[in-house]
Amino acid sequence: MSSSKLRVGLIGASGETGTSIVNGLLEANKFDLIALTRPSSLTKPINKALESRGISLRPFDLTSPQPDLVASLKDLDVLISSLPPHDLLSPIPLITAAKTAGIKRFLPCAYAPVIPPGGIHIIIDQKEKVYQHMKQLRLPFTIVDIGWWFQLCVPRLPSGRSDYVQLTPSQNTIVGEGDTKSALTDLRDIGRYIARIIVDERTLNKYVFVYNELWTQNEMFALTEKLFGEKMERKFVQEGELRAKLEGVGDVVDLPTIATKVPVQYQLSLYVRGDNQPENAKYLGYLLGKDLYPDFEARSFEAYVKEVAGGKAKGIYEGRYEDLKKLFVKNK
Ligand SMILES: NC(=O)c1ccc[n+]([C@@H]2O[C@H](COP(=O)([O-])OP(=O)(O)OC[C@H]3O[C@@H](n4cnc5c(N)ncnc54)[C@H](OP(=O)(O)O)[C@@H]3O)[C@@H](O)[C@H]2O)c1
Repeated sequence: MSSSKLRVGLIGASGETGTSIVNGLLEANKFDLIALTRPSSLTKPINKALESRGISLRPFDLTSPQPDLVASLKDLDVLISSLPPHDLLSPIPLITAAKTAGIKRFLPCAYAPVIPPGGIHIIIDQKEKVYQHMKQLRLPFTIVDIGWWFQLCVPRLPSGRSDYVQLTPSQNTIVGEGDTKSALTDLRDIGRYIARIIVDERTLNKYVFVYNELWTQNEMFALTEKLFGEKMERKFVQEGELRAKLEGVGDVVDLPTIATKVPVQYQLSLYVRGDNQPENAKYLGYLLGKDLYPDFEARSFEAYVKEVAGGKAKGIYEGRYEDLKKLFVKNK
């Protein structure tokens, strides 16, 4: 019997954002989910686990010829891409195929803080190239940006009790005076927002900015000290020092360049320019999740830090990207 549910294809379903999207869409119980999975990854336990949750796994290779890509997308209504930051241009042929296949709504791999394109952040500029191709083909779309993950915001403590959720050394640094607000979202809420957005006509061919709360770095550090009952060292860094780290670094999108530029450019954008704020999102033309979904029950940053303090939070990228993590530490 054929289902009347919206058929949603997911690329990157096993990733961090992908997992949140899978959970959010399953919870909504309105969608048939198809994970478009690299053939080499089909047997990974994480993908097998998707199957056991009722998600169809479909072998899918972004480098396949156009007719094959189109055939794989033909029966889908919505297509959601959630690929890692260092492989962002591979969706270009995918977009061409999505247009031919008649996809009714494409969510490109966005899920970023609010940052205007054009030289401020290497990753945002990569994403922008994909958006331009999508717009040139007039593929129906929604771009969903989400601020900065809670999961990247808890600083390192002298006792090491928060080490299990640490990703980059810059997590322990305060930029400037530390009083610039930045929009934060719990990674686990992204999928719950997306479940609403993809059935909402108001968001078709629009940029949407969803976030849970606004926090300054000083506030995040103070809350962490309070909930862990520990004092921590504050490493202040100024704009000039950050800019010096970028001198002579090229624009090639490879791992060493990413490892140098990505954390520093985020620090400059979020905490020096103050880009990642709802007023700026509105100025740039985004619809705001807070206006669209006033009843959305978003997790709080305080609840997340309590989870970390209680040793119950889940780490991110566990057992993955070990080379990139080493480069982050080397560039500290
Ligand atoms: N705002 C924030 O704070 C924040 C933080 C982190 C990331 N992000 C954004 O979120 C987006 C998603 O990142 P993520 O960290 O969630 O991703 P991720 O965990 O690295 O997941 C990558 C997924 O893509 C799949 N994949 C990788 N290469 C592929 C390829 N060539 N073809 C098909 N599938 C491929 C992987 O599947 P298999 O390995 O199973 O094949 C995996 O499911 C990024 O673009 C990033 O900009 C935002």
